[in-house]
Amino acid sequence: MDARDRTYSCKAEAFEASEDVPSNKSETPTIGDVIAARFGRRGFMRGSLTATAVAATFGPAVLASRPAEAQESRYVFEEIEHGVDETHHVAPGYTANVLIRWGDPVVSGAPEFDPMNQTADAQEMQFGYNNDYIGYVPLPFGSDNAESGLLCINHEYTNEEVMFPGLGKQDGDDVDFAGMTQDLVDVEMAAHGGTVIEIEKVDGTWQIVADSQYNRRISARSTETMLSGPAAGSERMMTSADPAGTTAIGTINNCAGGITPWGTYLMAEENFHGYFTGDLAEDHPEFRNYDRYGVPGGWYAWGRFYDRFDINAEPNEANRFGWMVEVDPLDPTSTPVKRTALGRFKHEGGESIVNGDGRVAVYMGDDERFDYLYKFVTAGTYNADDRDANMNLLDEGTLYVARFDEDGTIAWLPLVHGEGPLTAENGFNSQADVVIEARVASDLLGATPMDRPEDVEPNPMTNRIYVMLTNNSRRTAEQVDAANPRAESRFGHIVEITPENDDHSATTGTWEILVLCGNPADGEVGARWNPETSENGWFASPDNCAVDHQGRLWISTDQGSGWSRSGTADGVWALETEGELRGTGKMFFRVPIGAEMCGPRFTPDDTTLFVAVQHPATDGTNAYPGFERSSTFEDPATRWPDFQDGVPPRPSVVTITKDDGGPIGV
Ligand code: FEO
Ligand code: CA
Ligand code: CA
Repeated sequence: MDARDRTYSCKAEAFEASEDVPSNKSETPTIGDVIAARFGRRGFMRGSLTATAVAATFGPAVLASRPAEAQESRYVFEEIEHGVDETHHVAPGYTANVLIRWGDPVVSGAPEFDPMNQTADAQEMQFGYNNDYIGYVPLPFGSDNAESGLLCINHEYTNEEVMFPGLGKQDGDDVDFAGMTQDLVDVEMAAHGGTVIEIEKVDGTWQIVADSQYNRRISARSTETMLSGPAAGSERMMTSADPAGTTAIGTINNCAGGITPWGTYLMAEENFHGYFTGDLAEDHPEFRNYDRYGVPGGWYAWGRFYDRFDINAEPNEANRFGWMVEVDPLDPTSTPVKRTALGRFKHEGGESIVNGDGRVAVYMGDDERFDYLYKFVTAGTYNADDRDANMNLLDEGTLYVARFDEDGTIAWLPLVHGEGPLTAENGFNSQADVVIEARVASDLLGATPMDRPEDVEPNPMTNRIYVMLTNNSRRTAEQVDAANPRAESRFGHIVEITPENDDHSATTGTWEILVLCGNPADGEVGARWNPETSENGWFASPDNCAVDHQGRLWISTDQGSGWSRSGTADGVWALETEGELRGTGKMFFRVPIGAEMCGPRFTPDDTTLFVAVQHPATDGTNAYPGFERSSTFEDPATRWPDFQDGVPPRPSVVTITKDDGGPIGV
């Protein structure tokens, strides 16, 4: 079937299918007793552990800090219950308010949302679809103002079946490309990208600052971006619209991201392959590259109307996506820059930390089954006194990929042209080739294939790094390894890394599994939590996370649409990382039916938690009692947050505050 004519059953399922990319990498050999060596032997089940066993599980560092008396939870709130319904829920004593919804005005002159008369020009001035990453930059810059700032929000992708009237087909669960017009594709392109918007807290409630000079939309449709770093100007980046290979129109599938120490906003381009259609011959010079990334994914009709998304018409365009994009939110006229030194892959996010020597490390996951964990360490050092001096720090440095060894150590392997196998003999003629084909380079280096690396976040108080691993339906029993110890992992896990000597530039360190997710009461799941975890405190499929300003970890989940659902809606959970409660979860917030939870971000004083409710009404609705079908624009499983006839469900950013105004969870 011509990819242009392909239909798919809702975007979430397309995402799952997208992970069926044939892998050229060598398979990890069977390691028979790796689990026993690394986790199982020290494992435990909820409710069956002695304090000694907990201490043994969590290692000597924790033993040393273990208090003499029973430890109290670091998270003071009343847990909510697992469940699924048509709205959101937050712990008692807290208020969750919708701040901004898909279609709300962002820039001056933007029209009000009119779902029956959507246009690309209107959408490009309004809040985009599927809010994912949320960053907060206090105003004035350099302050820790928790009542005025810029929100930087990614718009990852679009769900046509609930966005546009007449496209969803509940009988076959399909959205048919044939129903897509160029006008609708243009709306989709305008709904992708990001939003920068000024917000302020007035009388305890967050509001949008209308007409702020900072308010800005970045889209896939019209925003000009610049390419910088080793791949800029490469022949492989040149297209008929850009013969120099130095500029690209737009950014796509911006999932999570980061705010750098110098206050720029990183937008991670994740599933870029899904936007391309066509069919490249096996002897095409880009075949190895595109095959490894799943290009063309054929998820969208864009290639039918725009040659640049048709790889036969414009074979290099797909090399211009899959990058980390840096935006200066303080300058609304600035050009977003694709920083190619950070590698090209399905970038989940990019959280950074200033190292002891002043260099900056950016931690990044490549979210696909059996793909890798990366970090980039800048060559230059961060200058806290001169913001401009930091603006090109991400152009020079070293990209590393992680190998997790079964003895609990980690090796960071440099992706440097000319070193090891990264030579012309293997198709790498320059550092441009290395970053463009970062996955193939990492395959050759022997990196560890992981269970879908999503957010990776350093805790500045401990220098430990938390890696969210969502799930992996395809890992076989023969493929389990120390860091990915479950076959057919439905519910994912979290790995904690400790860099050697607290040095984020170090090429070695150690790692531990923090939790194996899923229901600990179901023995077949093989979950591992601290026994103090309640029946609501466990979660499944960790995706995003946030470290608050007290060094506490919060997790948000994305269980997808079918096999990996656990029975509760997605949400936000607190997760203890220290002391004898380490590995204890606690449920704080949950989303309406069909949504996933993204973007948790705290203000500098922890009095507000911003969360992004993505694609309400789409995932898992076939199993939603009383609904049991796929959602469409006309018939969605929920009309959250407006609950108004004729108004479709709307992805929205929500603010969570404590009713007494104090810090969250204290
Ligand atoms: Fe877009 Fe990996 O979540
Ligand atoms: Ca994500
Ligand atoms: Ca997600």
